Order: sequence, then C-alpha cells, then structure tokens
Amino acid sequence: MAPKPPPPPPPHVIIFPFPAQGHVNAMLKLTELLLPAGLHITYLITAKDHRSLTTRLNHPGFQFHVIQGLYEGPMDTGDKLSVMIDCLTEITTPLLRNLIIGNPVISCVIADGIMDFALAAAEGTGVPVVFFRTVSACAFWAYFSIQDLINSGELPFEGTNLDERIVNVKGMEGFLRRRDLPSFCRSGLSNRTLQQVSSITRRAPDADAIILNTFDDLEGPIVSQIQKHCPNIYTIGPLHAHLKSRSTSKSTSSNSLFEEDKTCIGWLDRQPPKSVLYVSFGSIATVTRDQLLEFWYGLVNSKKRFLWVIREDLVSSNDDKSKVPSELEEGTKERGYLVGWAPQEDVLAHPAVCAFLTHNGWNSTLESIIAGVPMISWPFFADQQINSRFVEAVWKLGLDMKDTCNRTTVVRIVNEVMEVRKDEFTESANQMAKLAMKSVREGGSSYCNLDRLIEDIKTMSIQCKDK
Ligand code: UDX
Repeated sequence: MAPKPPPPPPPHVIIFPFPAQGHVNAMLKLTELLLPAGLHITYLITAKDHRSLTTRLNHPGFQFHVIQGLYEGPMDTGDKLSVMIDCLTEITTPLLRNLIIGNPVISCVIADGIMDFALAAAEGTGVPVVFFRTVSACAFWAYFSIQDLINSGELPFEGTNLDERIVNVKGMEGFLRRRDLPSFCRSGLSNRTLQQVSSITRRAPDADAIILNTFDDLEGPIVSQIQKHCPNIYTIGPLHAHLKSRSTSKSTSSNSLFEEDKTCIGWLDRQPPKSVLYVSFGSIATVTRDQLLEFWYGLVNSKKRFLWVIREDLVSSNDDKSKVPSELEEGTKERGYLVGWAPQEDVLAHPAVCAFLTHNGWNSTLESIIAGVPMISWPFFADQQINSRFVEAVWKLGLDMKDTCNRTTVVRIVNEVMEVRKDEFTESANQMAKLAMKSVREGGSSYCNLDRLIEDIKTMSIQCKDK
C-alpha cells in the first residue's frame, strides 16, 4: 500500500503592524483571534517594540520576526510619522519580499494599511495582501476622500473659519466641519503627512481585502461607502471584546508596551460608584506645560474625583517641568490619583468610573464603547479629530471639546457629562455597549466576518499551493 501523503502544512500568515502602541496592540489581538483556527503566524515587530512588550504570546504556531535598524525616536508629530514610514519602506520592503518568497510557503500577508509598500513586496508572487487599518472606518473614509476634497476645492482652506461645513466626504455631509477633518488637513497641500496618508489610502483598492477594527452597528453606513471602492471588507471589531468573547481562558494577555501601575484599581475600589473621571491621552499624544495646567485646574476645580494617566513623556520636551502649584497638589491629594500608565481596560470596566476624558485614539474609543462609558473628547492629531466628531454628533456618546483647552471649559463639560446630562449619556453608552457585545458574540456581524476571514485565508492557502 502506498504510504499516505503527509498532511498539507497549515496556512502560514505574515502579520505586519505599523510600530506604534495602538497598531501593535490591535494586530496582536488579531493574531490571538487567528491562531486557534490552526493558522501559523509570523509577526513582524521592530526591535524597540519587541523589547517593550510586557507579555509574550506563547503558541506553537506563532513566531516573532524582529526587525533591526529602524528609527526608534518619538512619533508625536506628522513629520516624525513620515520619517518612520520612509524608513520602514526602505528597510522592510526587501525583507518582507524575502519572507514571502522563502519558506514556509506564505498563504497571505496581513499588513497595516498605512504601509502600502507591502503591495510592492508581494508584487508578482501571487500571495494575497490584506490591509488591516487600525483606525475607524470614518477616519479611513476621510483619508480616502482627501483627493476629492482637493479636486472640489474644499482643501486647502484658507482663513480661520473651522466651522465651515465640508460636503465632499460622502455620508458625512450633514455634520462634518473643517475642524473635524484629520489634523494634517489644516496644514496645506504641501504637508508631507497629508500627501502620504492620502496616496497610501488610495492604494487600498489594490489590496485583496480590508480588515477593520469596528462593527456594523457603529459604522455600517461609512463601511458601505468604502465598499464602493474596496468590495471585500471584514469588520471584526471591537477586537479586544471579540478576543474575550472567544477566549476560553478568562484573562487575555495585555499587549501593553508600557508597565501598568495597577495600584489605581485599589484607589478606584475606594471610590463611590460612577463618581470618577478617567483621563488618558493614549501612547503618543503630548501636551504643553500650559495645557497640562489648564486640564489640571479644570479637573481640580470641577470638584470631581479623577484618575489621570500622566505618561513620563506626556509634556512636550521643550516645556519646563517646574513645580506644581500648591492648590493643584492639594486638590489632587483630596480627589485625584495619578499614574504613569494604567490597566485601561480594567479601569474602564470599573464601577467607580463615570466618564472618560480621552484623545479618541481608536483603541481607547472602542474600549470606552464596550465598557459603556461616556466620553469627553480632546483629540490630538490624525484620526482623532473625526472620531471625536462621531462620538458627539453621530453616536451621541459624549461631548467634543476639540480645539479648546482652558480650565473653564473643562469644568463646564465635565459637569455637563457627569451631572447635568449624566443619565442621557449613560443610557446612550449602555445601548451602544450592548450592540458592540452582540456583534462579537456567536451569530453577530463581527463574529461571522472573522469566521469568513479565516475560511478565506484557508482557501488562499490552497490556491497558493496550486500555483
Ligand atoms: C495611535 C494613534 O494615536 C491613534 O489615533 C490611532 O487611532 C491608533 O494608533 P494611541 O494614540 O496609542 O494610538 O491611542 P489608542 O488607539 O487609544 O491606543 C492606546 C492603547 O493604549 C489602548 O489600547 C489603551 O487601552 C492603552 N492604554 C492607554 C493603556 O493600556 N494604559 C494607559 O494608561 C493608556
């Protein structure tokens, strides 16, 4: 009897995130969702991020491939973002191509959608490239529409009237203003980041498919606009909740790049229910010393309890770090708690937390939605401006204080969200949380889309072998 042929090797996927906390975090969660389906995964990670990961993903089908020699500086401005994209393109295009054409046989590349050079790396190999965009669908669609804004003359805009309506981002005509566009739209057409983000996003239709960390009940109408250009879209978010809903083990690994100060949970345990404002501006946003003090006076003068994440690099480096005024020290001692980095998902899930003052980075926004916590938005850059507009004007999950940073406004808005309109926002946030959870449970839209993605990758694997 002829010996049985060996079983075919499992589909092997390369996953490649842009090196920033929000991107690395989301694509590690995607990895953890794909591994149980029997896929093997090589995850490309920079040496800096590999050193910073506080937990290691251990699975027989998983391996890191560490990339040396990349820019390791801060990325808190568009220019630095562009430096990283250029550096990545030059160093990793040949590296990625060698991995694709080498062994093991690669079924598919899932690349961060802001790294369009993945298309060049796979050119002619027959290996499909799927773009994972870690931003919201509304941000992706605004990036995609930049060329339309230029062609229609809505970009660049002169003058200071940032409340002027924008009508050439289809599906957003009723509420979009100039100030809600991605921050680099304010810098004129010569802005390198504007040009890069627009041209890279316009490449999306050349990918075989798009994965988005969102769900249809949140952004369905915008996803439909994108589908006119990119027909095959997998909306599988919120990823962190999706991972929890499918995990057999209760605790999922935190992919944080920074050491979390868990003492804040003990402090929250000692606060009354729904009494604390959680404040965090993500892993990249920075504030000036003056802005820091305006927020600080606003929080103390609001008389609310607050838990504030003040990263060691939060205050832009050219600001003096002089002594904190005594009235702030007193007020913080009485009602506040400061940490350098928090276990954010646990904080948002805590019963003492009433609202979230956030920069609206997409991961933070989704985490607040899942936790049913209303938001106060203070966007810093990139996709955050449009996310914050959707929070207030479309999803009704809180208030947007973009472009303002003074203690009086902070007191007013905190009071409106945590007192005057507390019930309204809490109800709205609870409704959206229910829809989010429904989408990631069996039979939900995100659950079904992930199953479809896994089946499609397995089909790609067979097709690759037949080549
Ligand atoms: C970046 C961009 O800034 C953001 O606009 C884009 O949407 C994603 O990439 P980042 O600024 O880090 O992300 O914000 P966000 O997307 O909110 O990701 C921050 C992550 O860090 C979240 O998952 C959050 O849970 C985590 N975090 C934040 C902590 O674990 N502890 C903290 O103290 C603060």
